[in-house]
Amino acid sequence: MTANAAAEQVRIDLGDRSYPIHIADGLIGRIGSLGLPRAHAALIVTNTTVAPLYASALQAALQPHYAQVSVVALPDGEAYKDWATLNLIFDALLERASDRKTVLYALGGGVVGDITGFAAASYMRGVPFVQVPTTLLAQVDSSVGGKTAINHPLGKNMIGAFYQPQMVVCDLATLRTLPARELSAGLAEVIKYGPIADIAFLDWIEANLPALMARDAQALAHAVRRSCEIKADVVGQDERESGLRAILNFGHTFGHAIEAGLGYGQWLHGEAVGCGMVMALHLSRELGGVDDAFVARCSRLIAQAGLPIQGPPLGVDRYLALMRLDKKAEAGEIRFVVIDGPGRATVRSAPDALVAKVIARCCA
Ligand code: NAD
Ligand code: GLY
Repeated sequence: MTANAAAEQVRIDLGDRSYPIHIADGLIGRIGSLGLPRAHAALIVTNTTVAPLYASALQAALQPHYAQVSVVALPDGEAYKDWATLNLIFDALLERASDRKTVLYALGGGVVGDITGFAAASYMRGVPFVQVPTTLLAQVDSSVGGKTAINHPLGKNMIGAFYQPQMVVCDLATLRTLPARELSAGLAEVIKYGPIADIAFLDWIEANLPALMARDAQALAHAVRRSCEIKADVVGQDERESGLRAILNFGHTFGHAIEAGLGYGQWLHGEAVGCGMVMALHLSRELGGVDDAFVARCSRLIAQAGLPIQGPPLGVDRYLALMRLDKKAEAGEIRFVVIDGPGRATVRSAPDALVAKVIARCCA
């Protein structure tokens, strides 16, 4: 990864809940210069993989700003995004007699960010939190926009809250230690923004995929900034997903079924989303929104990013049953994000027979 990418800033405009997203190389060490939330104590919530890499640097950078800065390291993995692990955060807070003047710092990927955000939303009915995302997926998507959640065995992200962070701090340097498979998973969420919102960005990703996969800092900085800009624009218009925000779930209806059907953690979330986007593209073509060439173009890019484009053979009935649990479903009717023209997405239902045809075509 080359260094020296320029510092970028994107703002989420949500009235008195607005906040900045800072994007630059080496930000953890400089976090104190970003205008931290004032509080008595800080608790860094991270996991057992990220803690040895970045927790002491963040703790040292925060120490001048709070009377007490401590760390709790959760077990690592999607399988731990659950009640028992959430309780470990509450245990840590209560053991330290933490009051409302405590700020949580979520240091890690989307799992740590989602669970920490939910803890912040509910501890003493709400304490402030800061997102310090350390995966590409978390920097371009999960740390931004205030969706927080844990999983239920019957459905992903089913228990949660909309709760915005005070700021997001994307230190691009953390992406240097990310395993290649995780980088690819993050690229799925970057690619997502092209078909749903910005064909010029899709062109840019195609041209710069080798640089992104080589972790070129300039390329990563641009990808994170443009992704955050698109997400900020959508979230600014529809924070609580009463309509437009659902387009950010492109590929997720099929993807969540893959994740739940295989058992959380078998496929990475981004892998399931990548494959889910291919399935949603085929459905979009069946519905007349895009042509074969666009499906082939996006599928090729997803494959080149190192993501699966063939779904697991869960069976049509199982896919349909799992997708009926999706949060977008209404009265048992599954609703899909489909592309209704390059760079434009909409949410709609589709006949089961058409969905079954797509599943049969896309799942080995
Ligand atoms: P993750 O949090 O499991 O992180 C992936 C792996 O990388 C983990 O093993 C983690 O410990 C490790 N890791 C993290 N940073 C690292 C680093 N810098 N170096 C080395 N290893 C590192 O997975 P993810 O892909 O970041 O997030 C997926 C989660 O995000 C899912 O639970 C998904 O539901 C959620 N999500 C939420 C939203 C939202 O809007 N809230 C959006 C998209 C996804
Ligand atoms: N990741 C989808 C959303 O934030 O709405």
